[in-house]
Amino acid sequence: MKNFFCFLSGENPELAALEVESILKGENKPYRELLSLPQCLVFESNEQSVASISNRAAFTKIISELYFACTSEEKKILEATKKLEINSNKGELGFKVEIIRVRGSSKHVSTQLLTKEIGAIIKSKKSTFKVNLERPEITYLGLLIQNKFIFGKKLEEVDRTKLLFGRGVSLPIVRSGMMNAALARAMVNLAHVKKGDVVLDPFCGPGGILVEALNINCKAIGIDLNPQIVELAKINLLFTGKTDFEVKVGDACSLNEKVDAIVTDPPYSISTSSYGRSLIELLKKFIPSAFKSLKKGKYMCISYPNRINIHKYAEEIGFKLVASFNVYLHRHLIRKVDLYFKP
Ligand SMILES: C[S@@+](CC[C@H](N)C(=O)[O-])C[C@H]1O[C@@H](n2cnc3c(N)ncnc32)[C@H](O)[C@@H]1O
Repeated sequence: MKNFFCFLSGENPELAALEVESILKGENKPYRELLSLPQCLVFESNEQSVASISNRAAFTKIISELYFACTSEEKKILEATKKLEINSNKGELGFKVEIIRVRGSSKHVSTQLLTKEIGAIIKSKKSTFKVNLERPEITYLGLLIQNKFIFGKKLEEVDRTKLLFGRGVSLPIVRSGMMNAALARAMVNLAHVKKGDVVLDPFCGPGGILVEALNINCKAIGIDLNPQIVELAKINLLFTGKTDFEVKVGDACSLNEKVDAIVTDPPYSISTSSYGRSLIELLKKFIPSAFKSLKKGKYMCISYPNRINIHKYAEEIGFKLVASFNVYLHRHLIRKVDLYFKP
Protein backbone atom coordinates (compact mmCIF):
# COMPACT_ATOMS: atom_id res chain seq x y z
CA MET A 1 0.00 0.00 0.00
CA LYS A 2 1.13 3.51 -0.79
CA ASN A 3 -0.13 7.04 -0.40
CA PHE A 4 -1.17 8.96 -3.51
CA PHE A 5 -2.70 12.30 -4.41
CA CYS A 6 -4.80 13.34 -7.37
CA PHE A 7 -4.80 16.89 -8.66
CA LEU A 8 -8.42 17.37 -9.70
CA SER A 9 -10.14 19.54 -12.28
CA GLY A 10 -11.42 22.84 -10.92
CA GLU A 11 -14.79 22.51 -12.70
CA ASN A 12 -16.46 20.13 -10.24
CA PRO A 13 -13.84 19.29 -7.61
CA GLU A 14 -16.19 17.48 -5.21
CA LEU A 15 -17.62 15.37 -8.00
CA ALA A 16 -14.05 14.72 -9.19
CA ALA A 17 -13.01 13.45 -5.74
CA LEU A 18 -16.01 11.10 -5.52
CA GLU A 19 -15.27 9.92 -9.06
CA VAL A 20 -11.81 8.68 -7.98
CA GLU A 21 -13.21 6.96 -4.88
CA SER A 22 -16.03 5.34 -6.93
CA ILE A 23 -13.64 4.02 -9.60
CA LEU A 24 -11.46 2.33 -6.98
CA LYS A 25 -14.30 0.97 -4.85
CA GLY A 26 -16.14 -0.17 -8.00
CA GLU A 27 -13.06 -2.17 -9.02
CA ASN A 28 -12.65 -3.55 -5.48
CA LYS A 29 -9.32 -1.79 -5.07
CA PRO A 30 -8.24 -0.70 -1.60
CA TYR A 31 -9.12 2.91 -0.84
CA ARG A 32 -8.76 5.03 2.29
CA GLU A 33 -9.16 8.78 2.14
CA LEU A 34 -6.44 10.61 4.05
CA LEU A 35 -7.20 14.23 3.19
CA SER A 36 -9.62 16.02 0.93
CA LEU A 37 -8.81 19.58 -0.17
CA PRO A 38 -10.28 21.67 -2.97
CA GLN A 39 -8.90 20.07 -6.18
CA CYS A 40 -6.77 17.55 -4.32
CA LEU A 41 -7.59 14.12 -2.92
CA VAL A 42 -4.97 12.35 -0.80
CA PHE A 43 -5.57 8.62 -0.28
CA GLU A 44 -4.05 5.24 0.46
CA SER A 45 -4.30 2.50 -2.17
CA ASN A 46 -2.14 0.14 -4.21
CA GLU A 47 -0.03 0.60 -7.37
CA GLN A 48 -2.71 -0.88 -9.69
CA SER A 49 -5.04 1.98 -8.79
CA VAL A 50 -2.95 4.44 -10.77
CA ALA A 51 -3.81 2.80 -14.11
CA SER A 52 -7.49 2.49 -13.15
CA ILE A 53 -7.72 6.20 -12.47
CA SER A 54 -5.69 7.31 -15.49
CA ASN A 55 -7.65 5.04 -17.87
CA ARG A 56 -11.07 6.01 -16.61
CA ALA A 57 -11.34 9.32 -14.74
CA ALA A 58 -12.84 12.34 -16.48
CA PHE A 59 -12.04 14.97 -13.87
CA THR A 60 -8.55 14.02 -12.62
CA LYS A 61 -5.59 15.90 -14.11
CA ILE A 62 -2.54 14.37 -12.43
CA ILE A 63 -1.90 11.31 -10.25
CA SER A 64 1.15 11.40 -7.98
CA GLU A 65 2.76 9.35 -5.25
CA LEU A 66 2.70 11.27 -1.98
CA TYR A 67 6.02 12.04 -0.27
CA PHE A 68 4.77 14.45 2.36
CA ALA A 69 2.05 16.94 3.25
CA CYS A 70 2.72 19.89 5.57
CA THR A 71 1.62 23.45 6.20
CA SER A 72 2.71 25.86 3.50
CA GLU A 73 5.50 27.54 5.49
CA GLU A 74 8.71 27.63 3.48
CA LYS A 75 10.81 26.48 6.45
CA LYS A 76 8.60 23.42 7.04
CA ILE A 77 8.53 22.55 3.32
CA LEU A 78 12.32 22.67 3.01
CA GLU A 79 12.85 20.68 6.21
CA ALA A 80 10.49 17.96 4.95
CA THR A 81 12.26 17.90 1.56
CA LYS A 82 15.66 17.49 3.28
CA LYS A 83 14.35 14.46 5.18
CA LEU A 84 13.27 12.70 1.96
CA GLU A 85 15.11 9.52 1.11
CA ILE A 86 15.60 9.26 -2.61
CA ASN A 87 17.19 5.88 -3.25
CA SER A 88 16.28 5.06 -6.83
CA ASN A 89 18.62 5.80 -9.68
CA LYS A 90 15.67 7.18 -11.61
CA GLY A 91 16.31 10.86 -12.05
CA GLU A 92 19.83 10.48 -13.34
CA LEU A 93 18.49 11.28 -16.80
CA GLY A 94 17.12 14.46 -15.36
CA PHE A 95 14.41 15.70 -13.04
CA LYS A 96 12.16 18.68 -12.77
CA VAL A 97 10.29 20.33 -9.90
CA GLU A 98 6.85 21.77 -10.62
CA ILE A 99 4.89 23.80 -8.09
CA ILE A 100 1.24 24.67 -8.72
CA ARG A 101 -0.51 27.34 -6.70
CA VAL A 102 -4.17 26.25 -6.57
CA ARG A 103 -6.86 28.96 -6.44
CA GLY A 104 -4.42 31.68 -5.35
CA SER A 105 -3.44 29.78 -2.17
CA SER A 106 -0.47 30.70 0.07
CA LYS A 107 0.47 33.94 -1.69
CA HIS A 108 3.29 34.43 0.86
CA VAL A 109 5.21 31.62 -0.86
CA SER A 110 7.09 32.36 -4.09
CA THR A 111 6.62 29.36 -6.39
CA GLN A 112 9.71 30.30 -8.39
CA LEU A 113 11.95 30.44 -5.32
CA LEU A 114 10.45 27.28 -3.83
CA THR A 115 10.99 25.40 -7.11
CA LYS A 116 14.68 26.38 -7.07
CA GLU A 117 15.19 25.56 -3.39
CA ILE A 118 13.51 22.15 -3.60
CA GLY A 119 15.44 21.42 -6.81
CA ALA A 120 18.74 22.24 -5.10
CA ILE A 121 17.95 19.97 -2.13
CA ILE A 122 17.02 17.02 -4.40
CA LYS A 123 20.14 17.56 -6.51
CA SER A 124 22.32 17.56 -3.38
CA LYS A 125 21.02 14.08 -2.47
CA LYS A 126 22.84 12.35 -5.33
CA SER A 127 25.80 13.65 -7.30
CA THR A 128 24.50 12.07 -10.51
CA PHE A 129 21.13 13.89 -10.39
CA LYS A 130 20.70 16.74 -12.84
CA VAL A 131 17.92 19.11 -13.74
CA ASN A 132 16.19 18.58 -17.09
CA LEU A 133 13.27 20.91 -17.70
CA GLU A 134 12.54 19.75 -21.25
CA ARG A 135 12.39 15.94 -20.95
CA PRO A 136 12.63 14.98 -17.28
CA GLU A 137 12.70 11.34 -16.29
CA ILE A 138 11.05 12.30 -12.99
CA THR A 139 8.84 15.26 -12.16
CA TYR A 140 8.39 16.20 -8.52
CA LEU A 141 5.07 17.94 -8.02
CA GLY A 142 4.08 20.31 -5.22
CA LEU A 143 0.59 21.73 -4.77
CA LEU A 144 -0.03 24.83 -2.69
CA ILE A 145 -3.65 24.47 -1.57
CA GLN A 146 -5.19 26.65 1.13
CA ASN A 147 -2.55 26.62 3.89
CA LYS A 148 -1.14 23.20 2.91
CA PHE A 149 1.69 21.93 0.72
CA ILE A 150 1.29 18.49 -0.85
CA PHE A 151 4.45 17.06 -2.41
CA GLY A 152 5.35 13.93 -4.32
CA LYS A 153 6.37 12.25 -7.56
CA LYS A 154 4.20 12.62 -10.63
CA LEU A 155 3.04 9.21 -11.90
CA GLU A 156 0.49 9.94 -14.64
CA GLU A 157 -0.79 13.02 -16.34
CA VAL A 158 -4.31 12.20 -17.56
CA ASP A 159 -4.90 13.07 -21.21
CA ARG A 160 -8.37 14.56 -20.89
CA THR A 161 -8.36 16.38 -24.21
CA LYS A 162 -9.76 13.42 -26.11
CA LEU A 163 -12.62 13.07 -23.69
CA LEU A 164 -13.36 16.76 -23.39
CA PHE A 165 -13.06 17.95 -26.96
CA GLY A 166 -12.93 14.93 -29.17
CA ARG A 167 -16.42 13.61 -28.96
CA GLY A 168 -18.34 16.27 -30.87
CA VAL A 169 -16.01 15.64 -33.75
CA SER A 170 -15.59 11.92 -33.45
CA LEU A 171 -19.10 10.55 -32.77
CA PRO A 172 -21.13 10.22 -35.99
CA ILE A 173 -24.40 11.38 -34.42
CA VAL A 174 -24.46 14.48 -32.23
CA ARG A 175 -27.78 16.00 -31.11
CA SER A 176 -28.67 18.89 -28.83
CA GLY A 177 -29.55 17.55 -25.39
CA MET A 178 -26.66 15.11 -25.51
CA MET A 179 -24.47 15.16 -22.46
CA ASN A 180 -20.82 16.14 -22.87
CA ALA A 181 -18.42 13.23 -22.84
CA ALA A 182 -16.60 14.19 -19.63
CA LEU A 183 -19.75 14.40 -17.53
CA ALA A 184 -21.17 11.24 -19.12
CA ARG A 185 -17.93 9.38 -18.26
CA ALA A 186 -17.87 10.76 -14.72
CA MET A 187 -21.48 9.68 -14.14
CA VAL A 188 -20.71 6.14 -15.30
CA ASN A 189 -17.71 6.12 -12.95
CA LEU A 190 -19.76 7.45 -10.02
CA ALA A 191 -22.00 4.38 -10.41
CA HIS A 192 -19.12 2.21 -9.01
CA VAL A 193 -18.88 -0.03 -12.08
CA LYS A 194 -16.13 -2.39 -13.11
CA LYS A 195 -15.28 -4.13 -16.39
CA GLY A 196 -18.10 -6.41 -17.57
CA ASP A 197 -20.84 -4.78 -15.45
CA VAL A 198 -24.18 -4.14 -17.17
CA VAL A 199 -24.93 -0.40 -17.35
CA LEU A 200 -28.48 0.63 -18.29
CA ASP A 201 -29.49 4.04 -19.65
CA PRO A 202 -33.30 3.90 -19.85
CA PHE A 203 -33.54 7.37 -21.53
CA CYS A 204 -30.60 6.71 -23.80
CA GLY A 205 -31.17 9.24 -26.61
CA PRO A 206 -28.31 9.02 -29.14
CA GLY A 207 -26.28 7.04 -26.61
CA GLY A 208 -23.77 9.53 -25.19
CA ILE A 209 -23.72 7.89 -21.75
CA LEU A 210 -23.67 4.36 -23.18
CA VAL A 211 -20.65 5.20 -25.36
CA GLU A 212 -18.72 6.07 -22.20
CA ALA A 213 -19.87 2.85 -20.51
CA LEU A 214 -18.53 0.88 -23.51
CA ASN A 215 -15.31 2.89 -23.49
CA ILE A 216 -14.53 1.59 -20.01
CA ASN A 217 -15.45 -1.98 -21.01
CA CYS A 218 -18.86 -2.29 -19.42
CA LYS A 219 -21.84 -3.87 -21.18
CA ALA A 220 -24.38 -1.28 -22.28
CA ILE A 221 -28.16 -1.49 -22.48
CA GLY A 222 -30.07 1.46 -23.90
CA ILE A 223 -33.81 2.10 -23.97
CA ASP A 224 -35.67 4.99 -25.60
CA LEU A 225 -39.33 5.58 -26.49
CA ASN A 226 -38.40 6.94 -29.89
CA PRO A 227 -37.58 4.23 -32.50
CA GLN A 228 -35.67 6.70 -34.70
CA ILE A 229 -33.44 7.71 -31.79
CA VAL A 230 -32.78 4.04 -31.03
CA GLU A 231 -31.40 3.66 -34.58
CA LEU A 232 -29.16 6.73 -34.08
CA ALA A 233 -27.87 5.34 -30.78
CA LYS A 234 -26.91 2.09 -32.55
CA ILE A 235 -24.77 4.05 -35.02
CA ASN A 236 -22.92 5.82 -32.18
CA LEU A 237 -22.42 2.62 -30.21
CA LEU A 238 -21.14 0.67 -33.22
CA PHE A 239 -18.68 3.49 -33.78
CA THR A 240 -16.86 2.59 -30.53
CA GLY A 241 -15.79 -0.68 -32.15
CA LYS A 242 -17.37 -2.64 -29.27
CA THR A 243 -20.25 -5.06 -29.63
CA ASP A 244 -21.30 -5.58 -26.02
CA PHE A 245 -24.48 -3.53 -26.27
CA GLU A 246 -28.20 -3.71 -26.87
CA VAL A 247 -30.47 -0.76 -27.65
CA LYS A 248 -34.22 -1.09 -27.91
CA VAL A 249 -37.49 0.79 -27.97
CA GLY A 250 -39.21 0.86 -24.59
CA ASP A 251 -40.58 2.90 -21.72
CA ALA A 252 -38.23 3.77 -18.85
CA CYS A 253 -41.23 3.60 -16.54
CA SER A 254 -41.72 -0.15 -17.07
CA LEU A 255 -38.27 -1.72 -17.03
CA ASN A 256 -37.77 -5.48 -16.94
CA GLU A 257 -33.99 -5.86 -17.02
CA LYS A 258 -31.80 -6.60 -13.95
CA VAL A 259 -28.67 -4.46 -14.09
CA ASP A 260 -25.51 -3.54 -12.16
CA ALA A 261 -25.88 0.22 -12.68
CA ILE A 262 -28.32 2.79 -14.01
CA VAL A 263 -26.79 5.94 -15.43
CA THR A 264 -29.20 8.32 -17.07
CA ASP A 265 -30.14 11.80 -18.16
CA PRO A 266 -33.92 11.99 -18.70
CA PRO A 267 -35.43 14.54 -21.10
CA TYR A 268 -35.59 18.12 -19.81
CA SER A 269 -38.62 18.92 -21.97
CA ILE A 270 -36.46 21.62 -23.56
CA SER A 271 -34.55 20.11 -26.47
CA THR A 272 -35.64 16.51 -25.87
CA SER A 273 -39.23 15.40 -25.45
CA SER A 274 -40.87 13.81 -22.41
CA TYR A 275 -43.91 12.96 -24.57
CA GLY A 276 -46.60 14.99 -22.88
CA ARG A 277 -45.66 14.14 -19.30
CA SER A 278 -44.20 16.84 -17.03
CA LEU A 279 -40.65 15.98 -16.03
CA ILE A 280 -41.51 15.47 -12.38
CA GLU A 281 -44.47 13.27 -13.32
CA LEU A 282 -42.16 11.23 -15.56
CA LEU A 283 -39.51 10.88 -12.86
CA LYS A 284 -42.04 9.85 -10.20
CA LYS A 285 -43.06 6.95 -12.46
CA PHE A 286 -39.47 6.18 -13.43
CA ILE A 287 -37.97 5.94 -9.90
CA PRO A 288 -39.89 2.78 -8.78
CA SER A 289 -39.16 1.19 -12.17
CA ALA A 290 -35.43 1.94 -11.76
CA PHE A 291 -35.43 0.61 -8.19
CA LYS A 292 -36.92 -2.69 -9.36
CA SER A 293 -34.45 -2.97 -12.23
CA LEU A 294 -31.29 -2.30 -10.20
CA LYS A 295 -29.66 -5.20 -8.35
CA LYS A 296 -29.20 -4.85 -4.58
CA GLY A 297 -25.99 -3.14 -3.43
CA LYS A 298 -25.72 -1.19 -6.71
CA TYR A 299 -25.88 2.46 -7.75
CA MET A 300 -27.94 4.79 -9.91
CA CYS A 301 -26.49 8.08 -11.15
CA ILE A 302 -29.08 10.46 -12.60
CA SER A 303 -28.98 14.05 -13.80
CA TYR A 304 -31.87 16.48 -14.14
CA PRO A 305 -32.41 20.24 -14.08
CA ASN A 306 -31.90 21.71 -10.60
CA ARG A 307 -35.23 23.54 -10.75
CA ILE A 308 -36.71 20.25 -9.46
CA ASN A 309 -35.64 17.84 -6.72
CA ILE A 310 -36.31 14.09 -6.61
CA HIS A 311 -34.52 13.22 -3.34
CA LYS A 312 -37.78 12.75 -1.43
CA TYR A 313 -39.38 10.46 -4.04
CA ALA A 314 -36.24 8.35 -4.41
CA GLU A 315 -35.79 7.91 -0.66
CA GLU A 316 -39.47 7.00 -0.19
CA ILE A 317 -38.96 4.13 -2.64
CA GLY A 318 -35.89 2.87 -0.74
CA PHE A 319 -32.91 4.51 -2.48
CA LYS A 320 -30.21 6.03 -0.26
CA LEU A 321 -28.90 9.39 -1.51
CA VAL A 322 -25.08 9.17 -1.50
CA ALA A 323 -24.27 12.57 -3.03
CA SER A 324 -25.86 15.39 -5.01
CA PHE A 325 -23.91 17.93 -7.09
CA ASN A 326 -24.88 21.04 -9.00
CA VAL A 327 -23.18 21.05 -12.39
CA TYR A 328 -23.24 24.38 -14.21
CA LEU A 329 -24.04 24.03 -17.91
CA HIS A 330 -24.93 27.54 -19.01
CA ARG A 331 -26.82 30.61 -17.77
CA HIS A 332 -30.20 28.94 -18.11
CA LEU A 333 -29.38 25.40 -17.02
CA ILE A 334 -27.77 24.01 -13.91
CA ARG A 335 -27.96 20.24 -13.71
CA LYS A 336 -28.26 18.24 -10.55
CA VAL A 337 -26.28 15.02 -10.59
CA ASP A 338 -27.51 12.60 -7.89
CA LEU A 339 -25.91 9.34 -6.87
CA TYR A 340 -28.21 6.77 -5.23
CA PHE A 341 -27.49 3.41 -3.62
CA LYS A 342 -29.94 0.50 -3.49
CA PRO A 343 -29.29 -1.21 -0.14
C1 LIG B 1 -31.86 13.99 -22.77
S1 LIG B 1 -32.16 12.67 -23.93
C2 LIG B 1 -30.87 11.64 -23.48
C3 LIG B 1 -29.54 12.05 -24.02
C4 LIG B 1 -28.44 11.13 -23.62
N1 LIG B 1 -28.21 11.21 -22.19
C5 LIG B 1 -27.14 11.42 -24.37
O1 LIG B 1 -26.22 12.03 -23.79
O2 LIG B 1 -27.06 11.05 -25.55
C6 LIG B 1 -33.62 11.96 -23.33
C7 LIG B 1 -34.27 10.86 -24.18
O3 LIG B 1 -35.34 10.28 -23.40
C8 LIG B 1 -36.30 9.78 -24.32
N2 LIG B 1 -37.56 9.53 -23.57
C9 LIG B 1 -38.49 10.37 -23.16
N3 LIG B 1 -39.44 9.75 -22.41
C10 LIG B 1 -39.06 8.44 -22.34
C11 LIG B 1 -39.58 7.29 -21.68
N4 LIG B 1 -40.71 7.34 -20.95
N5 LIG B 1 -38.92 6.12 -21.81
C12 LIG B 1 -37.79 6.04 -22.54
N6 LIG B 1 -37.25 7.10 -23.19
C13 LIG B 1 -37.86 8.29 -23.09
C14 LIG B 1 -36.37 10.83 -25.39
O4 LIG B 1 -36.86 10.25 -26.60
C15 LIG B 1 -34.93 11.29 -25.47
O5 LIG B 1 -34.25 10.65 -26.53
